Amino acid sequence: LSGPLKVAVTGAAGQIGYSLLFRLASGALLGPDRPVELRLLEIEPALKALEGVVMELDDCAFPTLAGVEIGADPEKIFDGVNLALLVGARPRGPGMERGDLLEANGAIFTAQGKALNSVAADDVRVGVTGNPANTNALIAMTNAPDIPAERFSALTRLDHNRAISQLSAKTDAAVTEIKKMTIWGNHSATQYPDVFHAEIGGRNAAEVVDDQAWIENDFIPTVAKRGAAIIEARGSSSAASAASATIDAARDWLLGSAANDWVSMAVKSDGSYGVPEGIIYSFPVTTHEGNWEIVQGLEIDDFSRGRMDATAAELEDERQAVTELGLI
Ligand code: NAI
Repeated sequence: LSGPLKVAVTGAAGQIGYSLLFRLASGALLGPDRPVELRLLEIEPALKALEGVVMELDDCAFPTLAGVEIGADPEKIFDGVNLALLVGARPRGPGMERGDLLEANGAIFTAQGKALNSVAADDVRVGVTGNPANTNALIAMTNAPDIPAERFSALTRLDHNRAISQLSAKTDAAVTEIKKMTIWGNHSATQYPDVFHAEIGGRNAAEVVDDQAWIENDFIPTVAKRGAAIIEARGSSSAASAASATIDAARDWLLGSAANDWVSMAVKSDGSYGVPEGIIYSFPVTTHEGNWEIVQGLEIDDFSRGRMDATAAELEDERQAVTELGLI
């Protein structure tokens, strides 16, 4: 690899953007030796605010920041990008039904998928953070037929990190001792954070915890509803942690996951573990130089099966809804 990595960020003037851009620019993605060039997409009314953010980026004098371009035209901003982090999305407004939300976001991710398809670099990887992330990724992927489907993923790394953090707090184990965490399914309240295949200091995490009631009534709902708890406490949604997870996910995708561990990534299902083919579903994956592979051979008991199927059913419903809207 040589030259700066061209990284597009959409919704760059938003809350997540305000944390994400500075991390990307300071070398958190690829380290101090590989500069990045930022391509920042926003809607017209937010471009002035984005100019202010760029002034602050300039003022940091980051040695790893090779350049910044901003604009509202995806065909210009995505030109030649190696990595596209699709963060900008339409939040659910008052009185908005799920169908309205899927439709509003459908318009955004259809256009962005098409633009990536025509102008992104041949090696582009596309990570979707903007919600509903899994289905937005499905829409972008379907509208970019020339980009291999495995180049698209949706972010469940924040859920993965939250699960590690909760397990660490429960067991007093350092986060570095906790391996093989899995988030299955949708980045939504139906997600299934799975401790049964996780390890703490090399031992099975569920055995270390030894408290099924805590797993069912505390751990799983706490991880799944953490986003709502943060809104309740902070008055706005998680932003710095979402930015951090967006970087973790992209870094591991490009550079590879750690030996003897895996990460959670929502990717196109190939039918592994009986998950319906074609939906963007979070699996345990290992990554290597920009490619991912679903971890195979995990034993799934009835408890896990039920939860994995429930979150798959929600994603199938979302797929059905966007199919009916003509978005895919
Ligand atoms: P925000 O509302 O502060 O920022 C979103 C930005 O996107 C706004 O500046 C808006 O102008 C921009 N935008 C809207 N449409 C656009 C378009 N067509 N092209 C380019 N930019 C566009 O929201 P925040 O807090 O930064 O969150 C962004 C998204 O990330 C939300 O959908 C949120 O639900 C999601 N999220 C996902 C998480 C995950 O784990 N997957 C965690 C936290 C948030």
